[in-house]
Amino acid sequence: MRIVLLGAPGSGKGTQSQRLVEQQRIPQVSTGDLLRAAVAQGTPLGVQAKEAMTAGRLVEDSIVLGMIRERLGEPDTGCGFILDGFPRNLAQARALDTLLQQIGQPLDVVVQLKVDYAELSRRIAGRRTCSDCGRVVNLLTTPREALEQERCPTTGKPHRLFQRPDDNQATVAERLRVYDQQTSPLIEYYAGQGLLRSIDAQGDVAEVSRRLEAVLPR
Ligand code: AP5
Repeated sequence: MRIVLLGAPGSGKGTQSQRLVEQQRIPQVSTGDLLRAAVAQGTPLGVQAKEAMTAGRLVEDSIVLGMIRERLGEPDTGCGFILDGFPRNLAQARALDTLLQQIGQPLDVVVQLKVDYAELSRRIAGRRTCSDCGRVVNLLTTPREALEQERCPTTGKPHRLFQRPDDNQATVAERLRVYDQQTSPLIEYYAGQGLLRSIDAQGDVAEVSRRLEAVLPR
Protein backbone atom coordinates (compact mmCIF):
# COMPACT_ATOMS: atom_id res chain seq x y z
CA MET A 1 0.00 0.00 0.00
CA ARG A 2 1.24 3.52 -0.85
CA ILE A 3 0.12 6.06 1.73
CA VAL A 4 0.65 9.77 2.32
CA LEU A 5 0.10 11.07 5.85
CA LEU A 6 -0.83 14.72 5.69
CA GLY A 7 -1.01 16.95 8.74
CA ALA A 8 0.34 19.97 10.56
CA PRO A 9 3.49 19.81 12.72
CA GLY A 10 2.72 17.73 15.81
CA SER A 11 -0.39 16.08 14.32
CA GLY A 12 1.13 12.63 14.86
CA LYS A 13 2.42 11.74 11.37
CA GLY A 14 5.63 10.22 12.77
CA THR A 15 3.85 8.41 15.61
CA GLN A 16 1.20 6.90 13.34
CA SER A 17 3.77 6.06 10.63
CA GLN A 18 5.71 3.94 13.11
CA ARG A 19 2.57 2.02 14.00
CA LEU A 20 1.72 1.52 10.30
CA VAL A 21 5.24 0.19 9.66
CA GLU A 22 4.51 -2.65 12.11
CA GLN A 23 0.99 -3.23 10.88
CA GLN A 24 1.48 -2.96 7.10
CA ARG A 25 5.12 -4.10 6.89
CA ILE A 26 6.03 -1.20 4.64
CA PRO A 27 8.75 1.41 5.29
CA GLN A 28 8.22 4.96 6.58
CA VAL A 29 9.78 7.61 4.38
CA SER A 30 10.09 10.80 6.41
CA THR A 31 11.68 13.78 4.69
CA GLY A 32 12.13 15.42 8.11
CA ASP A 33 14.15 12.41 9.33
CA LEU A 34 16.17 12.24 6.10
CA LEU A 35 16.96 15.95 6.35
CA ARG A 36 17.87 15.76 10.06
CA ALA A 37 20.23 12.86 9.29
CA ALA A 38 21.89 14.92 6.52
CA VAL A 39 22.26 17.89 8.90
CA ALA A 40 23.74 15.66 11.64
CA GLN A 41 26.23 14.17 9.17
CA GLY A 42 27.15 17.61 7.86
CA THR A 43 26.69 16.54 4.22
CA PRO A 44 26.57 19.37 1.61
CA LEU A 45 22.82 18.82 1.36
CA GLY A 46 22.50 19.00 5.14
CA VAL A 47 24.44 22.26 5.27
CA GLN A 48 22.06 23.74 2.68
CA ALA A 49 18.95 22.46 4.48
CA LYS A 50 19.92 23.53 7.99
CA GLU A 51 19.14 27.23 7.70
CA ALA A 52 15.59 26.70 6.42
CA MET A 53 14.87 24.02 9.02
CA THR A 54 16.12 26.19 11.88
CA ALA A 55 13.87 29.00 10.70
CA GLY A 56 10.85 26.70 10.24
CA ARG A 57 10.71 27.27 6.46
CA LEU A 58 10.49 24.56 3.82
CA VAL A 59 13.76 23.26 2.42
CA GLU A 60 14.15 23.82 -1.33
CA ASP A 61 12.02 21.50 -3.45
CA SER A 62 14.99 20.35 -5.56
CA ILE A 63 16.80 19.01 -2.46
CA VAL A 64 13.77 17.22 -1.07
CA LEU A 65 12.71 15.80 -4.43
CA GLY A 66 16.21 14.45 -5.03
CA MET A 67 16.09 12.67 -1.67
CA ILE A 68 12.64 11.22 -2.35
CA ARG A 69 13.61 10.02 -5.83
CA GLU A 70 16.62 8.24 -4.36
CA ARG A 71 14.69 6.74 -1.42
CA LEU A 72 11.78 5.48 -3.56
CA GLY A 73 14.33 3.84 -5.85
CA GLU A 74 15.42 1.52 -3.02
CA PRO A 75 14.07 -2.06 -3.16
CA ASP A 76 12.27 -2.03 0.23
CA THR A 77 9.71 0.48 -1.12
CA GLY A 78 8.68 -1.91 -3.94
CA CYS A 79 5.68 -3.25 -2.01
CA GLY A 80 4.63 0.12 -0.64
CA PHE A 81 5.59 3.00 1.63
CA ILE A 82 4.28 5.62 4.03
CA LEU A 83 5.21 9.17 3.10
CA ASP A 84 5.51 11.26 6.28
CA GLY A 85 6.02 15.00 5.78
CA PHE A 86 6.11 14.80 1.98
CA PRO A 87 4.69 16.30 -0.18
CA ARG A 88 4.57 19.70 1.50
CA ASN A 89 3.40 22.00 -1.31
CA LEU A 90 1.68 21.73 -4.69
CA ALA A 91 4.94 21.61 -6.66
CA GLN A 92 6.10 18.62 -4.60
CA ALA A 93 2.72 16.90 -4.98
CA ARG A 94 2.80 17.29 -8.76
CA ALA A 95 6.40 16.08 -8.93
CA LEU A 96 5.45 13.07 -6.80
CA ASP A 97 2.57 12.23 -9.16
CA THR A 98 4.98 12.31 -12.11
CA LEU A 99 7.58 10.18 -10.33
CA LEU A 100 5.04 7.57 -9.20
CA GLN A 101 3.55 7.43 -12.67
CA GLN A 102 7.04 6.80 -14.10
CA ILE A 103 7.69 3.92 -11.71
CA GLY A 104 4.12 2.58 -12.02
CA GLN A 105 3.31 2.95 -8.32
CA PRO A 106 0.39 5.37 -7.90
CA LEU A 107 -0.78 6.43 -4.43
CA ASP A 108 -3.57 4.39 -2.82
CA VAL A 109 -4.65 6.89 -0.19
CA VAL A 110 -3.84 10.22 1.46
CA VAL A 111 -4.88 10.48 5.10
CA GLN A 112 -5.25 13.91 6.69
CA LEU A 113 -4.66 13.94 10.46
CA LYS A 114 -6.83 16.70 11.94
CA VAL A 115 -5.73 18.25 15.25
CA ASP A 116 -6.58 21.70 16.61
CA TYR A 117 -3.83 24.30 17.03
CA ALA A 118 -3.85 24.42 20.83
CA GLU A 119 -3.27 20.65 20.95
CA LEU A 120 -0.52 20.83 18.27
CA SER A 121 1.42 23.40 20.31
CA ARG A 122 0.95 21.37 23.49
CA ARG A 123 2.23 18.17 21.85
CA ILE A 124 5.25 19.87 20.28
CA ALA A 125 6.22 21.54 23.57
CA GLY A 126 6.30 18.13 25.29
CA ARG A 127 8.04 16.16 22.53
CA ARG A 128 11.43 14.62 23.25
CA THR A 129 13.51 12.18 21.17
CA CYS A 130 16.06 9.59 22.32
CA SER A 131 19.43 10.44 20.81
CA ASP A 132 20.42 6.74 20.68
CA CYS A 133 17.34 4.87 19.38
CA GLY A 134 15.25 7.76 17.98
CA ARG A 135 12.16 6.91 20.06
CA VAL A 136 9.80 9.89 20.22
CA VAL A 137 7.99 10.44 23.52
CA ASN A 138 5.92 13.14 25.11
CA LEU A 139 6.62 14.46 28.59
CA LEU A 140 3.02 15.59 28.91
CA THR A 141 1.50 12.16 28.35
CA THR A 142 4.21 9.84 29.71
CA PRO A 143 5.22 10.37 33.35
CA ARG A 144 8.93 11.12 33.85
CA GLU A 145 9.33 8.16 36.24
CA ALA A 146 8.00 5.76 33.58
CA LEU A 147 10.49 7.18 31.07
CA GLU A 148 13.37 6.87 33.52
CA GLN A 149 12.52 3.19 34.02
CA GLU A 150 12.27 2.43 30.30
CA ARG A 151 15.46 1.02 28.73
CA CYS A 152 16.78 2.23 25.37
CA PRO A 153 17.04 -0.80 23.04
CA THR A 154 20.33 0.56 21.65
CA THR A 155 22.22 1.25 24.88
CA GLY A 156 20.28 -0.79 27.47
CA LYS A 157 20.31 2.35 29.62
CA PRO A 158 17.59 4.99 30.20
CA HIS A 159 16.84 7.04 27.08
CA ARG A 160 18.95 10.15 26.54
CA LEU A 161 16.19 12.59 25.61
CA PHE A 162 16.66 15.81 23.69
CA GLN A 163 14.30 18.47 22.33
CA ARG A 164 14.37 19.09 18.57
CA PRO A 165 15.98 22.48 17.88
CA ASP A 166 13.00 23.50 15.70
CA ASP A 167 10.52 22.78 18.51
CA ASN A 168 10.93 26.23 20.08
CA GLN A 169 7.99 28.65 20.18
CA ALA A 170 9.12 31.03 17.40
CA THR A 171 10.01 28.26 14.93
CA VAL A 172 6.83 26.33 15.67
CA ALA A 173 4.75 29.45 14.91
CA GLU A 174 6.49 29.73 11.54
CA ARG A 175 6.07 25.99 10.80
CA LEU A 176 2.33 26.29 11.48
CA ARG A 177 2.12 29.37 9.24
CA VAL A 178 3.96 27.52 6.45
CA TYR A 179 1.59 24.56 6.87
CA ASP A 180 -1.46 26.80 6.46
CA GLN A 181 -0.06 28.65 3.50
CA GLN A 182 1.78 25.98 1.52
CA THR A 183 0.72 22.52 2.70
CA SER A 184 -3.02 22.82 3.43
CA PRO A 185 -3.86 23.38 -0.30
CA LEU A 186 -2.93 19.71 -0.74
CA ILE A 187 -6.16 18.77 1.03
CA GLU A 188 -8.14 20.07 -1.93
CA TYR A 189 -5.59 18.70 -4.41
CA TYR A 190 -5.94 15.12 -3.15
CA ALA A 191 -9.70 15.45 -2.56
CA GLY A 192 -9.90 16.31 -6.27
CA GLN A 193 -8.09 13.08 -7.09
CA GLY A 194 -10.50 11.10 -4.89
CA LEU A 195 -7.63 9.96 -2.64
CA LEU A 196 -8.28 12.01 0.51
CA ARG A 197 -9.56 10.55 3.80
CA SER A 198 -9.68 12.81 6.87
CA ILE A 199 -9.65 11.59 10.44
CA ASP A 200 -9.88 13.19 13.87
CA ALA A 201 -6.33 12.66 15.17
CA GLN A 202 -7.02 13.85 18.72
CA GLY A 203 -7.32 11.44 21.62
CA ASP A 204 -5.45 8.31 22.56
CA VAL A 205 -2.70 7.20 20.12
CA ALA A 206 -4.20 3.70 19.81
CA GLU A 207 -7.66 5.13 19.12
CA VAL A 208 -6.23 7.38 16.38
CA SER A 209 -4.53 4.29 14.89
CA ARG A 210 -7.89 2.51 14.77
CA ARG A 211 -9.48 5.47 12.97
CA LEU A 212 -6.58 5.49 10.53
CA GLU A 213 -6.79 1.78 9.86
CA ALA A 214 -10.54 2.12 9.23
CA VAL A 215 -10.00 4.52 6.30
CA LEU A 216 -7.27 2.51 4.55
CA PRO A 217 -8.38 0.75 1.36
CA ARG A 218 -8.97 -2.98 1.84
P1 AP5 B 1 9.18 17.28 9.93
O1 AP5 B 1 10.14 16.49 10.66
O2 AP5 B 1 8.40 16.64 8.83
O3 AP5 B 1 8.23 17.97 10.98
P2 AP5 B 1 6.68 18.36 10.96
O4 AP5 B 1 5.90 18.12 9.73
O5 AP5 B 1 6.72 19.76 11.45
O6 AP5 B 1 6.05 17.30 11.86
P3 AP5 B 1 6.52 16.92 13.27
O7 AP5 B 1 7.66 15.96 13.19
O8 AP5 B 1 6.70 18.16 14.10
O9 AP5 B 1 5.19 16.23 13.84
P4 AP5 B 1 4.49 14.86 13.55
O10 AP5 B 1 3.22 15.14 12.81
O11 AP5 B 1 5.40 13.83 12.97
O12 AP5 B 1 4.10 14.49 15.05
P5 AP5 B 1 4.72 13.39 16.04
O13 AP5 B 1 4.23 12.03 15.69
O14 AP5 B 1 6.18 13.59 16.24
O15 AP5 B 1 9.88 18.56 9.25
C1 AP5 B 1 10.81 19.35 9.95
C2 AP5 B 1 11.40 20.40 9.00
O16 AP5 B 1 12.08 19.74 7.92
C3 AP5 B 1 10.36 21.30 8.31
O17 AP5 B 1 10.01 22.41 9.10
C4 AP5 B 1 11.12 21.69 7.04
O18 AP5 B 1 12.08 22.72 7.31
C5 AP5 B 1 11.88 20.42 6.69
N1 AP5 B 1 11.10 19.54 5.79
C6 AP5 B 1 10.61 18.30 6.07
N2 AP5 B 1 9.97 17.80 5.02
C7 AP5 B 1 10.04 18.73 4.03
C8 AP5 B 1 9.54 18.78 2.70
N3 AP5 B 1 8.82 17.78 2.16
N4 AP5 B 1 9.82 19.90 1.98
C9 AP5 B 1 10.55 20.92 2.48
N5 AP5 B 1 11.04 20.94 3.75
C10 AP5 B 1 10.78 19.84 4.52
O19 AP5 B 1 3.94 13.82 17.39
C11 AP5 B 1 4.26 15.02 18.04
C12 AP5 B 1 4.25 14.78 19.55
O20 AP5 B 1 2.92 14.43 19.96
C13 AP5 B 1 5.14 13.61 20.01
O21 AP5 B 1 5.71 13.90 21.25
C14 AP5 B 1 4.16 12.44 20.15
O22 AP5 B 1 4.59 11.53 21.16
C15 AP5 B 1 2.87 13.14 20.56
N6 AP5 B 1 1.65 12.52 20.07
C16 AP5 B 1 1.45 11.91 18.87
N7 AP5 B 1 0.19 11.46 18.77
C17 AP5 B 1 -0.43 11.82 19.93
C18 AP5 B 1 -1.76 11.64 20.44
N8 AP5 B 1 -2.71 11.01 19.73
N9 AP5 B 1 -2.04 12.14 21.67
C19 AP5 B 1 -1.09 12.79 22.41
N10 AP5 B 1 0.19 12.98 22.00
C20 AP5 B 1 0.51 12.48 20.76
